[in-house]
Amino acid sequence: MKTRITELFGIAHPIIQGGMHFVGLAELAAAVSNAGGLGVITGLTQRTPENLAAEIARCRAMTDKPFGVNLTFLPSVTPPDYPGYVQAIIEGGVKIVETAGNNPQRWMPRLKEAGIKVIHKCTSVRHALKAQSIGCDAISVDGFECGGHPGEDDVPNFILLPRAAEELEVPFVASGGMADGRSLVAALALGAEGMNMGTRFMATREAPIHENVKQALVAASELDTRLVMRPLRNTERVLVNAGVERLLEKERALGPSLKFDDIIAEVAGVYPAIMQRGEMDAGAWSCGMVAGLIHDVPTCQDLIDRIMGEAHEIISRRLSAMLAPA
Ligand SMILES: Cc1cc2nc3c(=O)[nH]c(=O)nc-3n(C[C@H](O)[C@H](O)[C@H](O)COP(=O)(O)O)c2cc1C
Repeated sequence: MKTRITELFGIAHPIIQGGMHFVGLAELAAAVSNAGGLGVITGLTQRTPENLAAEIARCRAMTDKPFGVNLTFLPSVTPPDYPGYVQAIIEGGVKIVETAGNNPQRWMPRLKEAGIKVIHKCTSVRHALKAQSIGCDAISVDGFECGGHPGEDDVPNFILLPRAAEELEVPFVASGGMADGRSLVAALALGAEGMNMGTRFMATREAPIHENVKQALVAASELDTRLVMRPLRNTERVLVNAGVERLLEKERALGPSLKFDDIIAEVAGVYPAIMQRGEMDAGAWSCGMVAGLIHDVPTCQDLIDRIMGEAHEIISRRLSAMLAPA
């Protein structure tokens, strides 16, 4: 399949693995890239720019295919060493960066000078237009279904993607709720040039996370995610567990007076507890509604081959047959 996204990134299949905290390590990024998609290392999971440089080198040792690095720009009191991370990306020879969170404008000149293609992930058409206007090469349009931060507009992909298609000139991928060949064909039909998956790639053999997390995803249904931190306007879609129920109880009890400090026990330090130690009630970790469509733990190669096989079958048989004269 050839789309503006496969051409832009030099990949065989229009499938991207979105940055995921404590999941997007070299093993997963390399496995996705080796399978013909675009694997992405999550920059901020590496505690220092030196660690990120080492992770990039580790990934390069595992694949000769293109891979990217995610840079998430979050508001914080003591910001991470973003200049250092950008330097590590440039010196590591990485040519694709997925940005998310705040507008990446400040970093665009350095990234562009280094010949890096930037795909910005955002949850609204207005943010996508802004990203296009500052020179981003592509957009990852993240609908309300998505795992992680869906923003505050709550527009699902059946509306958001065709709206993006109406407005954008740069190519975009559909993100949020994508799992299989049906998702890919639907995304293409709505105007996207490929898809980005987060949650689905966690339930793969190569995802370097605890087996409990993979089994929780297989067991979960589409009804098992919750939105947390809405009162703080920092909404996150997470898999429900005892820690999340505790967090939501605090949100209900404190109402508009809720502060970040009130819920810190349920959100700080949760990722290593969940992803490395498999403590499934530790607190809030991002997970999409797409969990309801995850029924197995294949290799990345098998997953991507299956998706592309299904997509071809749907386009060339199921849909074409509907057009055939009686
Ligand atoms: C466990 C997990 C951690 C994530 N961490 C990040 C992150 O650090 N930065 C980021 O930009 N997106 C992050 N995301 C969002 C994904 O990159 C992707 O946009 C999202 O998962 C797409 O929705 P889906 O889960 O329905 O596929 C995370 C998602 C998950 C499931």
